[in-house]
Amino acid sequence: MEGTLSTKPSPRQNQEQLQKVTTLAFRRKKERAERLCMLTAYDFPTALALDRVGIDAILVGDSLGMVVLGLENTLPVTMDDMIHHCRAVARGAHRALLIGDMPFMSYQVSLEEAVRNAGRFLQQGGMDAVKLEGGRARLDCVRAITGAGIPVMGHLGLTPQSVHLLGGFRSQAKNAGAAKDLLEDAIALEQAGCFALVLESIPTGLAGIISRRLLIPTIGIGAGPECDGQVLVTHDLLGLFDRFTPRFVKRYADLHAEMERAFTSFMTDVRAGSFPTADHSVEMEQAEWQSFLAKNRGEAESPVRPAA
Ligand code: KIV
Repeated sequence: MEGTLSTKPSPRQNQEQLQKVTTLAFRRKKERAERLCMLTAYDFPTALALDRVGIDAILVGDSLGMVVLGLENTLPVTMDDMIHHCRAVARGAHRALLIGDMPFMSYQVSLEEAVRNAGRFLQQGGMDAVKLEGGRARLDCVRAITGAGIPVMGHLGLTPQSVHLLGGFRSQAKNAGAAKDLLEDAIALEQAGCFALVLESIPTGLAGIISRRLLIPTIGIGAGPECDGQVLVTHDLLGLFDRFTPRFVKRYADLHAEMERAFTSFMTDVRAGSFPTADHSVEMEQAEWQSFLAKNRGEAESPVRPAA
């Protein structure tokens, strides 16, 4: 890969900050050695915030099942769940590349179903592209979906939809044979038409070799700094999901603690009668109020609740 990492944005880069991010822009960024930033979102306000700060891509991940819906893993997530959340995200983000994660069993059964479901992400969900998990077993699927004009992001390494096959959420490709397999999967996915590849929880050196070998960008999560970009699950980064945090997550905030603090303060205020105050209340014009009291004197005099 040619080029060095730039520090000062050029006029062209400033212009790009205002333009819709496309799959082509993804490729160009890799050529210029600019690192790509992707985060997940499942709702309107998060999408709005991510778009405002200039994130390159937003993934509506099926991690939705774990961090939003409280499921044990991603397997029960349905197409309807995904479309519902994609629509909310698409309302909030207009600049970032929007990628919808194809849920378990939405692309494995037949190519026809895979194409139809991928199409729903664009037609009904407002997404620009889809992501799906798996290597050489998924090549026909990638060809069929891209053949319908829908960009596909691949996903190799720890593929959570195969959690039972993998024997748990474990790092992958940790021996020479598995590493070679994964490299071959990556090359095959690029040849089949993927525009980018997520590499999850694999050794840093292997992710580096794949990133240099491919023309399409690699987006790492637990795959080290040599990938062309990085992705995290936003709820992990914000400290909103404290049930389980993978080792590769860096927490940038502790919003779960902040949420508990705010909820507790609300309850304390309500119980003490210090919320709401006049600042949070609605008043009537004095003349209207006096007229109301005059016509409803009995009501006004009967105490609704015992005095404190
Ligand atoms: O579902 C998801 O959020 C993902 C990311 C971890 C890449 O697949």
